[in-house]
Amino acid sequence: MNEKPIGAHGLSRRLTRYGDERFSDFLRKAFLKAQGLTEAALDRPVVGIASTESDFNPCHASAPQLVSAIRRGVFMAGGLPFTFPTLSLHESFAYPSSMLLRNLMAMDTEEMLKALPVDAVVLVGGCDKTIPAQIMGAVSAGVPSLIAPVGPMLTGQDEGERLGACTDCRRLWSAYRSGEIDETRLQRAQDELMPTHGTCMVMGTASTMACLAETLGFVLPGGSSIPAVVSQRLRFGEATGRRAVEMATQGGPLPRSLVTPTAIRNAVVVLQALGGSTNALIHLAAIAGRAGCSLDLDEVDRIGQGTPVLVDLKPIGRGYMEDLHRAGGLPALLRRMGSMVDPSTLAATGSPWAQVLEAWPSWTDDEVIRPLDRPVAPGEALAILRGSLAPEGAVLKRAAARDDLLQHEGPALVFDGVEDMAARIDDPQLPVTPGHVLVLRGAGPVGGPGMPEAGSTPIPGKLARAGVKDMVRVSDARMSGTAYGTVILHVSPESAVGGPLALVRDGDLIRLDLAARRLDLLVEDRELSRRKAEFRSPALPARGYARLYAEHVLQAHRGCDFDFLSGEESAGEAME
Ligand code: FES
Repeated sequence: MNEKPIGAHGLSRRLTRYGDERFSDFLRKAFLKAQGLTEAALDRPVVGIASTESDFNPCHASAPQLVSAIRRGVFMAGGLPFTFPTLSLHESFAYPSSMLLRNLMAMDTEEMLKALPVDAVVLVGGCDKTIPAQIMGAVSAGVPSLIAPVGPMLTGQDEGERLGACTDCRRLWSAYRSGEIDETRLQRAQDELMPTHGTCMVMGTASTMACLAETLGFVLPGGSSIPAVVSQRLRFGEATGRRAVEMATQGGPLPRSLVTPTAIRNAVVVLQALGGSTNALIHLAAIAGRAGCSLDLDEVDRIGQGTPVLVDLKPIGRGYMEDLHRAGGLPALLRRMGSMVDPSTLAATGSPWAQVLEAWPSWTDDEVIRPLDRPVAPGEALAILRGSLAPEGAVLKRAAARDDLLQHEGPALVFDGVEDMAARIDDPQLPVTPGHVLVLRGAGPVGGPGMPEAGSTPIPGKLARAGVKDMVRVSDARMSGTAYGTVILHVSPESAVGGPLALVRDGDLIRLDLAARRLDLLVEDRELSRRKAEFRSPALPARGYARLYAEHVLQAHRGCDFDFLSGEESAGEAME
């Protein structure tokens, strides 16, 4: 009988409580021998690999090959890999919205990491909500963690035009709605918009969050942009497995030590330079909250004003993730940004970024990662607005908006929820002009529920057919990171909890003043008080996760995490 101390590491960690630790250890190992493992294998450091393979997640279709490569790396470095499933979320396969389930995935990840005998873990993620959920869970679980993104898709072609998900999906759909292209062209393009496995290959939420995870030190340098289906992605997987064994042996670094105020600030700088997804602000706030930090939206705005957009990718620019990869990836961007980022924070190698960047190949494609004196946009990729309509803030992807709409005053046209909008938006009788401000409410964290990506309200059919491409739109919803337009999102507090958006009526004047960073409802206070007295909150769901969500979700400016999961005490200190 093995007389070594139990409970300290590897498979002896976190024993099931039968009241006799040696028996628990004996029984667990008996089960493992049933899997064909020998005593020599059972003594190795254990690396868990959280697989998010699912037939309902086409973005993760290459996960099995990536997991094999990670397992190979773990074996090569002397560890023992154990693959286990967690929830997997795909944007198009989650009713009513994947955001509703992000916190459930974070809880699943956290609880599995706290229950299983792992010394370190590799979390295989990619599609929008998965990487944020995995980092949130990892920070709270306190297990040394790496993220292995599945990687972005390669681009397709139609009629000589390069196509990719999902900016071109939206552009072509708008062209079809306005009658610019016919159904045959649309169908043909559908075959080319997502020609390989992987995540959306523009700078949408998946790409943004992979880059931010790399910045925070969860993804090995360069790993966020390697396409899903090239051999380098598998070599990256192998290297990730090897690094995970080092972390398992050393017991760190712990996720909490990576998510520091400095690292969060670096992530915001990178987000602005990428011209990244608005959704990243919600996820960063939630991740920061798990580590006992906070995301200051006013600082986000200040950073944006001083940070040029350097990465020329759609939806703001022209390229796709494969271009960023060939241009040198995220490390090439970090080096180009110089003192704008603090290089003392740790990369996933365990070394400070300064050391990693020194050794990174010096070549960069200046057309994809622009020099500081020739940016894609001078700054303000994401701007924060406040005002009587958004006391706790709202966000505008300024770099994807139309300049002449940034100072705008117009009458509101209000839609009460996504269904109301869908039912009326193409009504030829809709009383709307290009100068109207389209308001979508009842689509926030509680009202949505789960803040669906409906904030980029379609241009009403009759205006789209007349050639109108953009209008000011305001909502408490989110929008896809792949979308564009003069769209003000995440209005906080949301209408369902009585935020000012609930008080807007058709015809009320709304003023957007980007220069002053204001979003105001131009209605007298007395009238607003009268309307407020009439406000009634919608009924909460009767049961289940939806009820838990509605009762505990925080507002957008605090990251939509659950109140009982966020805050100082939620960060895992060290493993038991
Ligand atoms: Fe999965 Fe876009 S839908 S990354």
